Amino acid sequence: MRIELSEAVRLLKAGLVVAIPTETVYGLAASLQSPQAIDQIYRLKNRPDDNPLIVHIASYDQMRSLVKSFPLDFERLVHAFWPGPLTLILPVRDGAIPDRVTAGQPTVGIRMPAHDTALEVIRQVGPLVAPSANLSGKPSGTCLEHIEDDFGIQFPVLDGGPCEEGMESTILYPAVTGWKIVRHGAISAEQIETVLGYSVLPSAEEVANWKNLQAPICPGQRYRHYAPRANLVLGYENYRGAPTVVLGFLGRSYPNAKKVIILGDLEYPESISSGLYDQLRLLDHLGIDSAWVDCQFTSEGILRTVLERLQRAAS
Ligand code: TXA
Ligand code: MG
Repeated sequence: MRIELSEAVRLLKAGLVVAIPTETVYGLAASLQSPQAIDQIYRLKNRPDDNPLIVHIASYDQMRSLVKSFPLDFERLVHAFWPGPLTLILPVRDGAIPDRVTAGQPTVGIRMPAHDTALEVIRQVGPLVAPSANLSGKPSGTCLEHIEDDFGIQFPVLDGGPCEEGMESTILYPAVTGWKIVRHGAISAEQIETVLGYSVLPSAEEVANWKNLQAPICPGQRYRHYAPRANLVLGYENYRGAPTVVLGFLGRSYPNAKKVIILGDLEYPESISSGLYDQLRLLDHLGIDSAWVDCQFTSEGILRTVLERLQRAAS
């Protein structure tokens, strides 16, 4: 149900959950000050308790009291990418953030969205926690219809139209070897490397070490995610069976397809990333139970994020 900005602010201040637009995906927002609304987010999404929430801020002032210290190169990153789709994992100031938000970790994920409506709501309400607006495991909600599909037509949504990026924020973690990507997202590794001057892709050894930690570095990455009901199989290029549904790209031919769903134009990678979740949800609307995905593309830039999402949706 569409609501006005003033109504969204009123509901959030009253301790309720509201879906708000951001430049990445819609967020299921609650005030950082509302323990009951934060609980409600976990219930609504059916989200595992050990999966922490990102805190969204509209100014540096809103962040200072939440964070204990700022790792090396923090300023360079925020100067380059905030407001924008970059979440930074930072050491949390003792007692500043409820355990429910951090899932008991000594860190908090923070970002400043590049979206005027979101920023205005945050200015008026204060910092907001907001996971993506979808049932846990489903593709993130990127427009009003997705949210209504998952949470019902009565659910309050501050409608900002379809999200520009259509992909979640990139999450960076300050490892001993420098900032490392723990979730690929709307900002590519290459863009961040241009600013930092070193590789932000964690080594295989780092990833293995993180898996052995008692508290995982990015808990959300352990769960099945971004998945439609349909069974996705990657690697159509090797498929030789009977006619099937294919997720493919503009200008390519798919000889043994009974239906092709175009993900976008590989010449314009953003045309693929921005609509990916909508196309995955379309499979369910069409009642398609299985589809092959054309994976013949170079996974660099935003296409690395696209490939990672497809792999997780298919797993
Ligand atoms: O673009 C986005 O980031 C969107 C919009 C709404 O801002 N939000 C979003 O939130 O994608 P969510 O909850 O769907 O994904 C957040 C991810 C989860 O995988 C979670 O485990 C990780 O961030 N995360 C949150 N806090 C963390 C922390 N302190 N340490 C490590 N990972 C954290
Ligand atoms: Mg999510």
